[in-house]
Amino acid sequence: MHMRTKKWARPELAACPFFLDAIQGREAQPGALRNGWRQRFSQPDRPLHLEVGCGKGVSTGRMIADQPEINFVAADLSYDILGCARRNLTAACGEHPQNALLLMADVCFIDQVFGPGDRVERIYIHFCNPWSEHARHEKRRLTHPRQLMQYRTFLAPGGEIHLKTDDDDLFDDSRVYLQLCGFEPDFLTRDLHASGFGPNYVSEHEEKYAAMGVPIKFGLFRMKESSPGFDPTRFRLTPGLRKETLRLLDACGKA
Ligand SMILES: C[S@@+](CC[C@H](N)C(=O)[O-])C[C@H]1O[C@@H](n2cnc3c(N)ncnc32)[C@H](O)[C@@H]1O
Repeated sequence: MHMRTKKWARPELAACPFFLDAIQGREAQPGALRNGWRQRFSQPDRPLHLEVGCGKGVSTGRMIADQPEINFVAADLSYDILGCARRNLTAACGEHPQNALLLMADVCFIDQVFGPGDRVERIYIHFCNPWSEHARHEKRRLTHPRQLMQYRTFLAPGGEIHLKTDDDDLFDDSRVYLQLCGFEPDFLTRDLHASGFGPNYVSEHEEKYAAMGVPIKFGLFRMKESSPGFDPTRFRLTPGLRKETLRLLDACGKA
């Protein structure tokens, strides 16, 4: 996402009581945030949901206003974008939402920021960048096994990943990644808006693609208990592995 520099974004974030900076702020020190997320909320026992690549927080604002009983952390890696998210969240819930924190962090290193003690119940991945131009960039996808195996370390047992995208290839690649990393699809659709699934909080990118008539692909994936135990660092999705895994998924009705 390319956007003009917003001079107001950093000062507004610096003064924001619900903003944490794991890149340049005090919270960038190793271990400053890890395993301590629940205690940062006034009601630590409530479910904890994490949105990775939240963008301008259009759906996040809608979600936190509609679900005050859930604690949310929304993460992105651009100050300009998070500045917009701060404005959207305050527009939805006032200057100090009790159930939301905004986080500056690189999700490719998310296990330095979240740990097993955080017991996140759900991760939202909405319209993550497909990184499809160069094969060597595949590993940056927020659904890549490098990231999925990190999510496993801090998801609660039976934790969920909710994935939305406009991109058919990314959706199918991600189904394969998720299967290999020990996540089972509970619900899948290639047309979310026609599926009746809810609640659905429409994001900025979702609005854009839906207006263009592109059906939104959606999957709810649940973490299986047994860890697949493979090393994702050198993983590449080959055409053969992709085809065979999708064939198996489709054969057992997980299309
Ligand atoms: C295409 S936008 C989608 C924004 C929003 N979720 C939506 O649906 O409108 C992808 C977002 O992911 C963020 N992003 C990409 N890679 C990231 C990373 N490694 N860590 C954190 N955020 C990332 C980008 O900055 C961008 O805001």
